[in-house]
Amino acid sequence: MVSPGEEAVDPGQFLRASRVVIVAGKGGVGKTTVAAALARMAARQGLTTLIVQVEQASGLARLFGRPPLTYIESSLAPAAGTIAEVRGRTITPDDALLEYLEDHGLRRISRRLVSTGAMDVVSTAAPGIKDILILGKVKSLERSEAADLIVVDAPAAGHAITFLLSVRGLLDAVRVGPINAQARDVLELLTDPVRCSVMLVTLPEETPVNEAVETAFTLEDRLGISLGPVVVNGLYLPLPGLDVDPAEAADAAGVTLRPGEAEALAGAASFHRHRQALQEAQLERLDERLPIPRVGLPFLFAADLGPAHVDVLAAALRDEVTTLDPPPPETPPVPSPETTP
Ligand SMILES: Nc1ncnc2c1ncn2[C@@H]1O[C@H](COP(=O)(O)OP(=O)(O)OP(=O)(O)O)[C@@H](O)[C@H]1O
Ligand SMILES: [Mg+2]
Repeated sequence: MVSPGEEAVDPGQFLRASRVVIVAGKGGVGKTTVAAALARMAARQGLTTLIVQVEQASGLARLFGRPPLTYIESSLAPAAGTIAEVRGRTITPDDALLEYLEDHGLRRISRRLVSTGAMDVVSTAAPGIKDILILGKVKSLERSEAADLIVVDAPAAGHAITFLLSVRGLLDAVRVGPINAQARDVLELLTDPVRCSVMLVTLPEETPVNEAVETAFTLEDRLGISLGPVVVNGLYLPLPGLDVDPAEAADAAGVTLRPGEAEALAGAASFHRHRQALQEAQLERLDERLPIPRVGLPFLFAADLGPAHVDVLAAALRDEVTTLDPPPPETPPVPSPETTP
């Protein structure tokens, strides 16, 4: 935490730290939701943002109130005033392969290859090739500066790890040729902190915390990938008045409760307190085991999250980022040519 008077992290600087942010984590922890919030936060900071959806049916477009994404980029949230546009697209291995073959002068055979299911044969022969095709496309988007920030909504569960580790596996399996070159390029992207970082998402619960810790070490140690702050999603925030007796509070406010209401309110308050105590214990475990900064996002009590909720989470993320400790003094920013004497 930042002490009073100390300089906090500037959200714009935070967002510009690496051009590609891969949002990863266990299934269902809120990767897609956090990807949307991060993109919206960046847009509010004036950065054009492209969200890349790797899995079909992620619910990403719905969060922005838009129809499902396709391989062709589309707008998820228009620019307005100082707010930049959020765009989105999918990257599927089939489409990425088609594009790759066409870019390499193999247009005629490419359609037939994909339509005859050759992709499945190839990916059985060299596991990880689909992931390389997807990440290869992300790399070319990054190279062509497709947006100020590219947010990748990574695949679910353990697959996110396989997804990223497959690059190394493929480099070992395929030692020469275009696939090797592609894997090398992708690895270069993944291991360059200025170009790419991973934002791990977790929930304040035992298993997700364990998995986040394991994933963090695997990604850093085995892949050498740089990690942004870990996002703890779905936090129950402190509620004022949670410890007040509902019947007494109703009396004080001059409200008459119906039979059973005081008990129901007391039950809800007790659940909330219990949940908060559990989450505090998990946050402590996370801090002990994972020595990287963390930011928290609130649990929103809504049946279906939409654009308004994404905005709430984007604002919360921004607030959290500003409370992070500033970077240590031993890694001062490189002075820009204007400020160099
Ligand atoms: N902060 C939050 N408050 C309330 N609900 C949330 C929050 N974050 C996520 N959810 C809900 O939890 C569910 C899972 O979220 P989401 O789809 O973002 O997770 P995911 O990690 O992308 O899942 P998958 O692994 O299936 O891709 C969704 O129904 C989403 O609306
Ligand atoms: Mg998802």
